[in-house]
Amino acid sequence: MAAKDLHETAKALVAEGKGILAADESDGTIKKRFDSIGVESTEENRRAYRGLLFTTEGAKEYISGVILFDETIRQSSEDGTAFPKLLESKGIIPGIKVDKGAKPLALAEGETITEGLDGLRDRLEEYYGLGARFTKWRATYSIGSDTPSEYCVWTNAHALARFAALSQEQGLVPIVEPEVLMDGEHTIEQSLKASGRVLQALYVELHDQRIDLRGTLLKTNMALSGYDASDRAGVEEVAQETLECLYRHVPAAVPGIVFRSGGQSDEDATAHLNAMNRMGTHPWEVSFSYGRALQAPALKAWGGDPANVEKAQEAYLHRAHMNGLARSGDYSPEMEEKVAA
Ligand code: 13P
Repeated sequence: MAAKDLHETAKALVAEGKGILAADESDGTIKKRFDSIGVESTEENRRAYRGLLFTTEGAKEYISGVILFDETIRQSSEDGTAFPKLLESKGIIPGIKVDKGAKPLALAEGETITEGLDGLRDRLEEYYGLGARFTKWRATYSIGSDTPSEYCVWTNAHALARFAALSQEQGLVPIVEPEVLMDGEHTIEQSLKASGRVLQALYVELHDQRIDLRGTLLKTNMALSGYDASDRAGVEEVAQETLECLYRHVPAAVPGIVFRSGGQSDEDATAHLNAMNRMGTHPWEVSFSYGRALQAPALKAWGGDPANVEKAQEAYLHRAHMNGLARSGDYSPEMEEKVAA
């Protein structure tokens, strides 16, 4: 795979007005989502739900790519079309989550290391054959009095870079995802400091392991106050602090930064993205790779009933549209009320 193809795929994933749908919930996570609507997490229900999202008419105007889970990349829509083929036919790029989850980091109480490097080269080859053109690997860090530790920061940065190198070797654009979690009472300043430390180490490892940054994307958290913080930062402050962190630590060769929603409300996630894009032209595209913030209203509207598919698709399309507008700073919260009315 020529470097040019990696660059083009990365750029296409952050095309104007578009972002990525994260539909790569692991078995445990999708079960939690289904539990919230009282639906059993069977293979068929997961297929039906994801199929509903992927067949939504008009979503391709706002969605450039979809991150799939191992089970989903092998499933098909009602008419027997394999999901990767279906997405491709709409001009949406199929991608795949390839990490095996964040596990306890030995000798580091409360910290995690992401696993999944063993045998990764072979898995990537198979995923490419199944139609994937990009990959994702997520590492998590929590903010505490002594965390994230340097040990956790560097072991995860090393693993992220190894994943990225193997992906590029296989012709797949790696989305490297360090996520500083929102759990806790931390301030936005603490989030900024931890996120900056994590990103700085990540780009050292990516450089040392010969990654072509133009053929990558960064997926990360915004700088946010902890869920349980008493005084939470507002939209403008979140946007400013997040950009400040990224300007300090992310090289301009990276084509795009795609945020995760990470537990923000749907509308907060859209408003924060919008505010960042209003603050000017940036060295990289500032976009989204949302899971919950794109799917939550659709999941609720569906509720496991085939009769609700259309309503659920409308809800998904609406969130995709709002986030598409936030890509250029053209979103406003009044647009939500009009639809609700
Ligand atoms: P959230 O946007 O819900 O944080 O999720 C992103 C993601 O990658 C889910 O797998």
